Amino acid sequence: MQTLTVGLADRSYPIHIGSGLLREAGLLLPHLPHKRAAIVSNTTVAPLYLEPLQLLLKNNGVDTLSIILPDGEQYKNAETLGLIYEALLRNRCERNTPLIALGGGVIGDMTGFAAATYLRGVPFIQIPTTLLAQVDSSVGGKTGINHPLGKNMIGAFYQPLVVLADIATLRTLPDQELRAGIAEVIKYGLIRDLPFFEWLEQNMERLLARDAEALQYAIVRSCQNKAEVVGADERESGERALLNLGHTFGHAIETGMGYGAWLHGEAVAAGTLMAADLSRRLCWIGEAEVARTRQLFERAGLPVIAPDLGAAKYRQLMGLDKKVVGGKIRFVLLKSIGHAVVSGDAPEDLLRQTLSACASFDQADGTASHSTKPASGQVADYQDRHG
Ligand code: NAD
Ligand code: GLY
Repeated sequence: MQTLTVGLADRSYPIHIGSGLLREAGLLLPHLPHKRAAIVSNTTVAPLYLEPLQLLLKNNGVDTLSIILPDGEQYKNAETLGLIYEALLRNRCERNTPLIALGGGVIGDMTGFAAATYLRGVPFIQIPTTLLAQVDSSVGGKTGINHPLGKNMIGAFYQPLVVLADIATLRTLPDQELRAGIAEVIKYGLIRDLPFFEWLEQNMERLLARDAEALQYAIVRSCQNKAEVVGADERESGERALLNLGHTFGHAIETGMGYGAWLHGEAVAAGTLMAADLSRRLCWIGEAEVARTRQLFERAGLPVIAPDLGAAKYRQLMGLDKKVVGGKIRFVLLKSIGHAVVSGDAPEDLLRQTLSACASFDQADGTASHSTKPASGQVADYQDRHG
């Protein structure tokens, strides 16, 4: 196990990364002094990992309430959030009852927002079970829900007490979800870590094969990058915006196609290629760097062509981005591989060229279809080793 720290003075917290951590009561118990917790999960993750966690806590004298939500990005909304509040109220959960998020980024973001707002704030613990959540969403305290008009538009900054990333849970993750997580891993290389980008070029096949050592390295390195950025700029007044590379385009794809049609990581991948294309049109990077970026996403099995929502729709949706200042869209763009900047200087004609060059008509009414079912045989595998 490796432990990193997100340095935020008296709100600093550890990220524990390793295999089999869901069996380690010692990592959770210090954060559960009142011997009560509410675990929030979903209908896919709960059958896999809830019972062992409940048992572990019960054997250590901790009572748990389970709140099981429907699975999917389309449920990351106010209505589902209401289900969490209702369960907490009905069960008379008090200010000292921590909420534990057990699942991917959707569960983590919603549980975090519930923790930030229930009784004006209760303790919060992250147990991320997707690669994307282990490398990105569980760290840094961004919590929230989607609005029909815009992605993640309602939320709060609210840090967890601890993040427990059990790499063994990734064995049951569908391939398409693993690849979606790799999109956010590549992001760190592109925005601030050229040696990591080079490592990914050399080790992509190991990651896709779920080689434990490669996964551990990629998760630790990603979390190191994220912890450094969040420690320096928790509330995104500067450097943290770089973590949104590809997200201005990507969020427009997710909202425009309907939440859940494109996975977040898939939309980020196609959006990152749009950001790279725009950077090239500004003459900040060359065609060789765009091609190198595209190749890495392609090797990860990620989409590099965006759906053609139409330029007007992209413009409308991107106008709701959280980075918009004074009505002006600000993009995260590349100065080189390993160096990103935030810029409001993209001329309208170049943006239009990017939108028409990077979007494909034949995907306009389709979806990036995928299975959310765990990979067959892998459930039993996890339970054999860790059950
Ligand atoms: P997700 O939470 O929808 O999980 C993906 C799918 O995998 C779901 O069907 C889930 O039930 C299933 N799953 C989870 N763990 C599993 C496991 N171990 N085995 C089998 N199936 C498993 O998606 P995600 O990619 O984890 O997260 C995407 C969300 O995270 C988006 O809503 C995005 O906006 C958000 N996000 C937030 C931040 C942040 O800083 N807060 C950063 C990046 C992304
Ligand atoms: N995922 C973007 C951020 O945490 O800032």
